[in-house]
Amino acid sequence: MAQNTRRRPLIAGNWKMNGLQADGLDRVRRVAALRAATEVPCDLLVCPPATLLAAISEALAGSPIATGGQDCAPQTDGAYTGDIAARMLKDAGARYVILGHSERRHGHGESDAQIRAKSEAALAAGLMAIICVGETLAERDGGQTLAVLSTQVKASVPPNATAVNTVIAYEPVWAIGTGRNAAPPQIAEAHAHIRATLRQGLGAEADRMRILYGGSVKPANARETLALADVDGALVGGASLDVDAFWAIAQACPKL
Ligand code: 13P
Repeated sequence: MAQNTRRRPLIAGNWKMNGLQADGLDRVRRVAALRAATEVPCDLLVCPPATLLAAISEALAGSPIATGGQDCAPQTDGAYTGDIAARMLKDAGARYVILGHSERRHGHGESDAQIRAKSEAALAAGLMAIICVGETLAERDGGQTLAVLSTQVKASVPPNATAVNTVIAYEPVWAIGTGRNAAPPQIAEAHAHIRATLRQGLGAEADRMRILYGGSVKPANARETLALADVDGALVGGASLDVDAFWAIAQACPKL
């Protein structure tokens, strides 16, 4: 492992399908006020529902807090009712887009090939792709975790991915929204394996790429999780809806 490689952590809030104008704008204004008053040793990102992206990006203009979408279409435009193109997210102010979240992989049957196509569309549109991977409980119990992660990484991450345009998120499906954070050795093993797999395809660029952990990250477990080798931030679901909790997680990042 390249011990000297310094990767600035990213703390990303995935609001999922939560937030209307009033509470969503209030939440980001409160985070922006905290960030304006205090430095944190990490980059900050908020991924609201698509309906709030433009308003929240505008509310955060001039703040170092970035915004992102939660999915995008592989196509650039056309007759795809209900879908949103990457360049539309960019046009609404997004800098990032989450792709291949387990709620898309399992809830909407998205394949690695589709996630790769969406990731390619995101990169072509100038967005940073946050590509999610993670095993189910049955796969973990069956001893398949590392094989599942290898397959997902190899088949979902485009060959032109770099540390500048791509972030990986490890989200064990069984730890999402369950209150059950993966144990530190499980997280460390998965992250090291993901980085080794990335290295096979991308060489040394893999050592500059951020790998986030996601799954029941809370203030109570953030410091321990974020201190692990190869953990370069967190993708936070439920706790990102609580300004104080989200802020406490950001402050728990180790100082570079
Ligand atoms: P929770 O933090 O609510 O477990 O969600 C994790 C997640 O899915 C982030 O993308």
